[in-house]
Amino acid sequence: MSAITVPDTLRHARITGVGAYRPVAVVPNSEIIGPIDSSDQWIKERSGIESRHRAGEGESVVEMSVQAAKGAMEQAGVGAEQLGGVIVATVTHPYQTPGAAPEVAARLGSGAAAFDISAACAGYCYAISIASDMVRVGTADHVLVVGVERMLDFTDPEDRGSAFIFGDGAGAVVVSPSNTPGIGPTVWGSDGDKRQLIAQRDSWNDLHTDRGLRWPAIVMEGPSVFRWAVWSMVKEAQRALDAAGVRAEDLAAFIPHQANVRIIDQMAKTLGLPEGLPVARDIRTTANTSAASVPLAMERMLREGEVASGGLALQIGFGAGLVWAAQVVTLP
Ligand code: UT7
Repeated sequence: MSAITVPDTLRHARITGVGAYRPVAVVPNSEIIGPIDSSDQWIKERSGIESRHRAGEGESVVEMSVQAAKGAMEQAGVGAEQLGGVIVATVTHPYQTPGAAPEVAARLGSGAAAFDISAACAGYCYAISIASDMVRVGTADHVLVVGVERMLDFTDPEDRGSAFIFGDGAGAVVVSPSNTPGIGPTVWGSDGDKRQLIAQRDSWNDLHTDRGLRWPAIVMEGPSVFRWAVWSMVKEAQRALDAAGVRAEDLAAFIPHQANVRIIDQMAKTLGLPEGLPVARDIRTTANTSAASVPLAMERMLREGEVASGGLALQIGFGAGLVWAAQVVTLP
């Protein structure tokens, strides 16, 4: 009987291209404050958000993914036939099944292995870890990773604690083989005992049996999540730096999940990041786009020339689950 043959050497992996899709419609704070008795000033001061994009008709999870993917593949110089995997991180694709990824792959002209992952605001960083491992082991040569959300479909416009926080959009990257390490070890974990802190209000089954229920929007206990993020997530970010053997002063950028500008500022301070280090603050005009937030912020920083290709970025995603993932990456 012959033995199973497996690759016995690991390759390196890196991000070779990034792309983004921001929906056409821009919604300023003034348009959402009415039902929650809030103000533009309060939202800006407490979250840093000035406006968000709202996806409309023709801007589905799949469509936005395809548009973002095209930009990433173009920069990477990778054609659809070269993709060995398509991973879509999302919690707002409106079909339980099939997932968005097979349709995204087909729309791009690819028949690669394709699947969705559900890890909320950490979904993109989870997917980067999976894609990196696929490339390193040789399961795939090039993997498309998309973070995409239509969060406003799952937002209750009358919920004071969340109506102003979310936005829509898609960010995508291609992960490819590399001569040198371009994606550091992932530091990740979960705390399912805290699952109620950010959650869909009711299950689909509840809605099915009780037609009087409101649409089961995603709501959160903001202040508890805030404390968790600034207290625990900064330690995970530091662990990701240590795991990669990278010091704060070696970084070219810090790209945390865009949850709240005060969380971002506090994390940057506690990590002791050098004065003047570019820190992603895409949240101002994009709000919290969950799985899309890190790649959207990365794409903006590169496009606007705030950081250069080839620099090291510390990225971290954290959210509903609770779940988190962080790693150091070389910018495409
Ligand atoms: O993406 C997943 C991870 N998510 C996060 O990391 C989000 C983390 N949480 C947050 O970003 C913040 O908790 C929020 C931005 C959601 C809320 O900010 P906060 O500073 O934690 O506000 P709060 O809930 O503690 O409320 C402070 C005050 C209260 O008034 P009093 O009791 O101090 O008089 C609230 O009643 O602000 C009031 N308030 C509002 N006022 C105007 C609460 N919500 C609003 C509102 N507009 N929408």
